[in-house]
Amino acid sequence: MASINEQYFDQYAASNEMWERSRKAIVGGITHDGRHIKPFPPYMAKADGAYKWSIEGHKLIDFCVGHGSLIFGHNDPDLTAAMVNQVPRGTHHSAGHEAEVRWAEAINKIVPSAELTRFTGSGTESTLLAMRIARGATGKNGILKFEGHFHGWQDYALKGEKPPFEKTTVNGVPSESLTTVAVLPSNELAMLEERLVQGDIAAVIMEPSGGSWTSIPLIEEFLQGVRDLTTKYDALLIFDEVITGFRWAPGGAQERFGVTPDMTTMAKIVAGGMPGGAVSGRADVMNVVAFSDDPAVQAKKVPHMGTYNANPLAAAAGTKAVEKCADPAVQAYCDNIAAQIRAGFNEILVRHDIPGFAWGESSVFHIAFGSRITNMTSGDLTRPQGVTPEFLKSSGGTKLGMKSEIGMLLEGVHLFHGGGLTCTRHTDEDVANTLTAFETVVKRMNDEGDFAGM
Ligand SMILES: Cc1ncc(COP(=O)(O)O)c(C=O)c1O
Repeated sequence: MASINEQYFDQYAASNEMWERSRKAIVGGITHDGRHIKPFPPYMAKADGAYKWSIEGHKLIDFCVGHGSLIFGHNDPDLTAAMVNQVPRGTHHSAGHEAEVRWAEAINKIVPSAELTRFTGSGTESTLLAMRIARGATGKNGILKFEGHFHGWQDYALKGEKPPFEKTTVNGVPSESLTTVAVLPSNELAMLEERLVQGDIAAVIMEPSGGSWTSIPLIEEFLQGVRDLTTKYDALLIFDEVITGFRWAPGGAQERFGVTPDMTTMAKIVAGGMPGGAVSGRADVMNVVAFSDDPAVQAKKVPHMGTYNANPLAAAAGTKAVEKCADPAVQAYCDNIAAQIRAGFNEILVRHDIPGFAWGESSVFHIAFGSRITNMTSGDLTRPQGVTPEFLKSSGGTKLGMKSEIGMLLEGVHLFHGGGLTCTRHTDEDVANTLTAFETVVKRMNDEGDFAGM
């Protein structure tokens, strides 16, 4: 029988050809570092509901769901209707429009920290704007972030994002910018206090799920602890809810965990899967962006522009998505699908004695191969123990992670960074098919000797 890799070359031959063609036109052949996979990435022709079809015609259960942005699946009829309705009315008015006002009202209504909102073009722009607002509002330069937490690709976001976390340089980013960013391990409140006491931190930014959508889970008391310490030392707290927003609960992780930050960064679901993002927060903080008739206040205005901010198409899709997410049944449904997948994967890994585990919370799941944890279970798992944060963070990009992703493509499943996010269109049948696919793949990897000696 052909190996997983041989079969992939055979069944995804058109993707391989497209990849060769792409590399001659697009630098690196891909348009997002996160889509790097060996031996080559799959190319998609179309998508609908919970499924995508590759250019070879393979039907795939999609656990990427628009990098997490499509909580209602592909081509949700309500979101599509909102956009179709908008197109003939214009896609850019170079002026304010009612849709952007309704969009902000919808966000402010359900996100606990949102008193005022400003729109951006992406999640990266949202974290950049939030950091600038924090610096402008406090008059301080320092940003404190946590190891492995992802806040997009802007200059201040990349330090300590990938292992080795202690690396202090990022090629292409001036070291002068990076010296304004402090990076600490998460879950260490004493270290955080020691750093905040120095008084130069404008804001602490974090994924409230733990780094990379709960790859590196937080201990239970950490979120409240960070809230208390930032208040005590007069630093602002920014929750980056680009993934968790509207997914962990209608009001995001801040609602789910009952901890309210000063500012929240959003993208993905907030824009209904269209390019767009938002920063919301306390009115007194957000107001540094507003124009003022008072010359002294105006002199301290924080600038913010952006051709595509709140463009009417994103506003139409985003408003509909946010309004639909107000029903907690949406998140409960997606959470349940993900919990079944996490538990099902672990049951299979235990039964076949494979060195690996699946974990996560809310509507996401991660899978790691090549290590054994001390709290392995045949059921659902939120906080794996006995492995390092570096191991957890890297799991999707390892040789074994990539191979399992390739193997799953052969079985009709498209994972995301070796894990996935669920949507309201995934069914119990999709779960059952995904578990069957997973069992086939890990058995094949075992037969191919991938776990030898582990
Ligand atoms: C938590 C988090 N913040 C920021 C971003 C960056 O968003 P974008 O890709 O829209 O720039 C992402 C993207 O995945 C994210 O997961």
